[in-house]
Amino acid sequence: MISENISLRKFNTFGIDVNARYFSTFSDEATLVTALDEKRGVAGGKLMPTLILGGGSNILLTKDFNGLVLKNEVQGINIIHEDTTHVYLRAGAGVNWHSLVLHAISHNLAGMENLSLIPGNTGASPMQNIGAYGVEIKDIFQGLTAYHLADKKLVSFSNNDCEFGYRESVFKRKLKDQFVILDVTFRLNKNPEYNISYGAIEQELEAMGIETLSIQAISQAVINIRQSKLPNPTEIGNAGSFFKNPEITKLQFDQLREHHPGIVGYQLPHEKIKLAAGWLIEQAGWKGYRRGDAGCHARQALVLVNHGNATGKDIYTLSTEIIASVKGKFGVTLQREVNII
Ligand code: FAD
Ligand code: EPU
Repeated sequence: MISENISLRKFNTFGIDVNARYFSTFSDEATLVTALDEKRGVAGGKLMPTLILGGGSNILLTKDFNGLVLKNEVQGINIIHEDTTHVYLRAGAGVNWHSLVLHAISHNLAGMENLSLIPGNTGASPMQNIGAYGVEIKDIFQGLTAYHLADKKLVSFSNNDCEFGYRESVFKRKLKDQFVILDVTFRLNKNPEYNISYGAIEQELEAMGIETLSIQAISQAVINIRQSKLPNPTEIGNAGSFFKNPEITKLQFDQLREHHPGIVGYQLPHEKIKLAAGWLIEQAGWKGYRRGDAGCHARQALVLVNHGNATGKDIYTLSTEIIASVKGKFGVTLQREVNII
């Protein structure tokens, strides 16, 4: 059933209060097609602007949405294939991401544990190739099924087809707004290959008193670290990192380090360095800044927050000022990670 003039406040983790002209949920291809066709019907066969919504944890809504918002509720977790070393697990796009991670862990399937506690739904995970603590979904991604809005047909995508990059995929670039992802399949390992080299995982495992490594222990360590750093959207509106960590050349990094000896950067292949945008923003003086209800988080400067009644425009304006200020101080241009709607 399609509702009209629905507030989206509870459907986005920033807690921004804008309205959708039309709103419906869908739970499979058939209910998706029904909702689309109903609105195509009133628009003379044409598709009106359509926004596919998962958990709303990576969007900033800057105005009312004058079109159709379709909230994905496709459920189901199934093993579709198994061999001696791997299990291929398919999840409906509406399955909560962390529930899927816990499901895999409880079945002793390895590969997702470093991605514990990332908010949102499985269907959005390929959109920006979600990543954390040294793992990205491209490392475990097998394929997905998506519905092409214009051609009205299902298309399968392999790992290569998705053109994954750092917080990037083909769905954010050349195929933007063309597909609805319905399910995603992951290739999980029966024999874990532990990945604990990133950040504070090892330290946290030690603090937890872990002597025998397991995917359960890694998941709990990641959960503990995340809870100590990142604001909980149920307490304060946010969408995680608002900007990407910028990549620069080794030469640029060395030049910057002459003037800013404390600059934080990580070596990438091909003489590139990934800068910690949180450090740049903090050094530019924004950490803990608040204007009205829009702010920069006091413990993690990369996260912009809504203290209550900020508008999407308030947050967007703040982000523009931060970009200009970081550019002025360091000559580095930050790119937004969050999808601006
Ligand atoms: P939404 O916000 O609903 O949608 C995001 C985009 O994908 C939108 O453009 C939407 O139209 C599109 N979309 C969603 N579902 C579909 C679909 N089925 N088909 C087609 N298009 C679709 N991200 C990380 O990568 N790593 C992190 O560590 C991380 N930490 C976070 C911590 C916090 C506290 C928060 C709030 C966010 C964090 N994020 C992180 C960002 C976010 O959780 C992920 O990007 C997540 O995958 C978004 O899922 P979602 O279902 O909420 O997507
Ligand atoms: N830092 C500061 N000040 C700050 C924040 C960070 O100086 O206010 C510096 C510190 O030196 C710190 C370093 O930045 O050691 C890195 O910070 P952190 O470990 O918190 O990670 P991040 O680079 O800020 C990235 C991802 C997160 C992901 C974590 C863990 C991006 C844009 N963000 O954050 O993803 O969870 O690493 O892997 O790549 C997200 O995408 O929404 C997200 C939360």
